[in-house]
Amino acid sequence: MSKSSNPLLNMTEALGHVEFQEGRPNESFESTSLPGFKLALEGRRAIREYDHQPIPENIMRDCLSDATLAPSSSNLQTYELYWVRDPDKKELLAQACLGQPASTSAGELIVIVARVDLWKINLEKVIDIMTQGGANPLPGPVDDYYHKIVPMIMKNDVFGINNLIRRAIYWFKGQSEPTIRTPVNQCDHRIYGHIQSSLVAQTLMLSLAAHGYESCPMGGMDKLRIGKMLNLPRKAEVSMVIAAGRGKPEGLYGSRVRLPESDLVKVV
Ligand SMILES: Cc1cc2nc3c(=O)[nH]c(=O)nc-3n(C[C@H](O)[C@H](O)[C@H](O)COP(=O)(O)O)c2cc1C
Repeated sequence: MSKSSNPLLNMTEALGHVEFQEGRPNESFESTSLPGFKLALEGRRAIREYDHQPIPENIMRDCLSDATLAPSSSNLQTYELYWVRDPDKKELLAQACLGQPASTSAGELIVIVARVDLWKINLEKVIDIMTQGGANPLPGPVDDYYHKIVPMIMKNDVFGINNLIRRAIYWFKGQSEPTIRTPVNQCDHRIYGHIQSSLVAQTLMLSLAAHGYESCPMGGMDKLRIGKMLNLPRKAEVSMVIAAGRGKPEGLYGSRVRLPESDLVKVV
């Protein structure tokens, strides 16, 4: 594939490389961050019963802030985190989580919402941040990526015309070279949204664990009721609810069960 036809290669060239930064992973991490990371990773379990006590606000805010460091496709950050603190709303939310013990006993409940519908607004905001309000234009290929390629990939309409056009282009282009294949239907757009949300959810749970708190992701819930309760627009979609707080010993329902690693990890 020629360089000029691959916007990702052109963009890499235009951006160049930033200087090595102190906080980026390097060999010293193995002795500094790895032990703590393993503690948080291995310590995180799905905990179903809590002591009802809220997590201190500064800690919750730090965890939520950490969650936003999750990567997202084209950095569009098409998700929202709803930290539900209002007691009435919290009760409604627990009911919408089918009254699961994690939802009724957790000190905190956070709803992770996929907001693919915000892609265009977020794109404009990201460009605005990167260009300092337009003062520093992006290098040509980067500008092309954000102003042409991303809209080409993300554009959606009620009649599915953009999806049909993409499907035709990708099929045609894909005959002769590696080509992205999605999104070309509504389902792809929804998957896109849940991918971003899931990364945010896991980052949040790991941060909670690193702060000494436990959590439980909940997919067993009534998305429609939660959407209504949060006044979400029709195109927003609830991905998951995270229960968090100080877990009770009886909230751990059993020892960790994992399939043999050979079933899950394939080296090819
Ligand atoms: C998307 C998703 C949805 C889940 N939904 C629920 C749920 O509704 N209720 C629940 O008790 N646990 C739920 N879980 C937790 C899983 O059951 C749990 O992560 C799994 O059994 C592995 O246990 P571990 O997280 O302790 O390693 C969910 C997990 C994920 C990732």
